[in-house]
Amino acid sequence: MSKLIIRGGTPIRGKLAVHGAKNAVLPILAASVLCDNGVNVIHNCPNLRDVTITVEILRYLGVRVIRTGNTITIDARKGIHGHIPQYLMQELRSSIIFMGAIAARNHKAKISMPGGCELGPRPIDLHIKALRELGCDIKEKTDYLYVNSRHLKSAALTLPFPSVGATENIMLAACRADGMTVVENVAKEPEIVDLANFLNAMGAKIRGAGTSRIEIEGVKHLHAADYTIMPDRIAAITYLCCAAATGGSIELTHTVPEHLETALSLLAQCGCRIEARDSTVYLQAPKRLSAPSEIVTAPYPGFPTDAQSLFLALLTLADGTSVIRETIFESRFRPAAELAKMGASIALCQNCATVTGVATLQGAPVAATDLRGGAALVIAALAANGTTEIDNVCYIDRGYESLTENLTLLGADIKRI
Ligand code: UD1
Repeated sequence: MSKLIIRGGTPIRGKLAVHGAKNAVLPILAASVLCDNGVNVIHNCPNLRDVTITVEILRYLGVRVIRTGNTITIDARKGIHGHIPQYLMQELRSSIIFMGAIAARNHKAKISMPGGCELGPRPIDLHIKALRELGCDIKEKTDYLYVNSRHLKSAALTLPFPSVGATENIMLAACRADGMTVVENVAKEPEIVDLANFLNAMGAKIRGAGTSRIEIEGVKHLHAADYTIMPDRIAAITYLCCAAATGGSIELTHTVPEHLETALSLLAQCGCRIEARDSTVYLQAPKRLSAPSEIVTAPYPGFPTDAQSLFLALLTLADGTSVIRETIFESRFRPAAELAKMGASIALCQNCATVTGVATLQGAPVAATDLRGGAALVIAALAANGTTEIDNVCYIDRGYESLTENLTLLGADIKRI
């Protein structure tokens, strides 16, 4: 098991290109199985553990996949069988997106339950209910879901909560159903727009992605597309936080500043100077950060739950007290106990964390509890006095391409052992 050894105290400075978005590439790779008469070419795919597992699932299904650098070529012309075994489904939660993709390509799917994850229970009731309304017959057995999608049909749906995954599963299934599906209260995340753009590039007819109402007109066939994955907004926020926490400065290229609005506005409230132009964001940190009074996570365009742990780490060093309220995932505060080992002052109460900034953090042995929680420890370690040893790096590897190399180029003293 790898560990990261970080000797803190050096400001992060320099220029970095942000890699492709993890949360966009996973559903887009799954969506590729819908193409039955050509070869999809997907560019800007980050080299991440979750991408490797998704490729393994595709190959298990019988798809020919070639990975060359950051480009993945997907040939599903020979068809797919619809079975995904437990050992693959349980490796990553977003594997549930294959349910909609297989339903749209095959008449039958047998998919293991995705199971819980490090963020606490992650139900799939919204996915199942929506696919049933689209005509799928779904039987839930102890370990497997049996899906028969012979009679896919359009529907008018309203989601009780704008779930990202459920919205993606609906788009995948509905784009091959007969007629026009209209879905209200869908997720508006940029990754939803990226998936809709990819499906439309394959010949789907999806309108309204990025708003709370999506219309999907079913089509008989989807053809091959050449597509480039959007930049990763959470990786971008992570590197901005690294510079902000260490009193440094960073120029991030290959970003979409509009996707980062809530985080950039909070960083500005913390006293950072921010400039955003075209696809570049520049941040210059103040000598000491100021604490914003409150942060509340919310579906896009609200403050992303995925960036909450990153700000939890940042605010441990800010001047003043902040309250962070988590409204999406109940176990997002797990890194708080690890940050406390480094001297952070965080009081937890149900879904709130009250963070009182300290003047310095001290390096300590800590362990990543989940992907973004692990990134939070990296931010704290870069700013701390002394050396921090971060265990369970495999969580961090799920979402950051070349993290050690990138931070080294930005001046950090970091190594992986
Ligand atoms: C996606 C992202 C994840 C991000 C999250 C919220 C991917 C691969 N992952 O996860 O990084 O943190 O969006 O922005 O894109 N829920 C139900 N029933 C369901 C589905 C969801 O109750 O059937 C609840 C969840 O428990 C959670 C909330 O809805 O409390 C949000 O979940 P959802 O938007 O579905 O997140 P994911 O798609 O799993």
